[in-house]
Amino acid sequence: MKILITAGPTREAIDPVRYLSNRSSGKMGYALAEAAVARGHEVLLISGPVSLPAVEGANTIKVITASEMYDAVQAHIGEAVDAAIFCAAVADYRPACVEEHKIKKDDNEQITLVLEKTADILGSVRGKMDFTGLLIGFAAETEKLESYARRKLQSKQCDLIVANHVGDAQTGFDADDNQLQLFFADGQQQKLPLQTKRLLGEKVIEIIEKMGEPKT
Ligand code: PMT
Repeated sequence: MKILITAGPTREAIDPVRYLSNRSSGKMGYALAEAAVARGHEVLLISGPVSLPAVEGANTIKVITASEMYDAVQAHIGEAVDAAIFCAAVADYRPACVEEHKIKKDDNEQITLVLEKTADILGSVRGKMDFTGLLIGFAAETEKLESYARRKLQSKQCDLIVANHVGDAQTGFDADDNQLQLFFADGQQQKLPLQTKRLLGEKVIEIIEKMGEPKT
């Protein structure tokens, strides 16, 4: 299969020295990419800024902002991609204007940042980008995991949502381990208990392979 994977955070500039970002390390997305390469798939990894070693055998495109990630996905998703996995923690908002010079603290006790929405990459893939392969989204939630995940499954027209609780030190952002709950478009669900992200990557890729098999 040809598999496109997004991974890591994005960074949205405030001024030339500051940005908004999140705690994604890229470990979960890179683990999926490593597992996919190891299982013989052709992998295109679109990665935000992370400090992980490159995934050997994957073709990696490095991006910084949500807008660059959107453009990279749009440019490559048409290239006979069989499955697309959106594991990146893309900024939902970015500063509406980027200051040309470093904001000085001298005169300001408080400052207000005006934020504007970024494009929803996963949400654009079926409609705007016309993608017909398997579409796998992630859901990072601190509450109501199942209902929010099911809502994303429907609204973004995914075949599968891989949901994880975030906010604990042991799982989710930046941890080496994770636990996942999978919600499929046909209503089924599956739990993958606490284990390393590398092992989880293996299991998720195996599940996607089965989803891609012709139905008999
Ligand atoms: O990188 P690690 O430190 O290993 O942490 C792993 C992880 C917690 C980042 C990962 O397991 C995970 O949950 N990734 C998704 C993070 C996220 O942004 O979730 P969300 O529920 O906010 O977004 C839902 C989906 O829409 C995701 O597939 C996301 O990639 C996608 N999205 C979100 C916003 C946006 N503008 N465009 C998108 O494509």
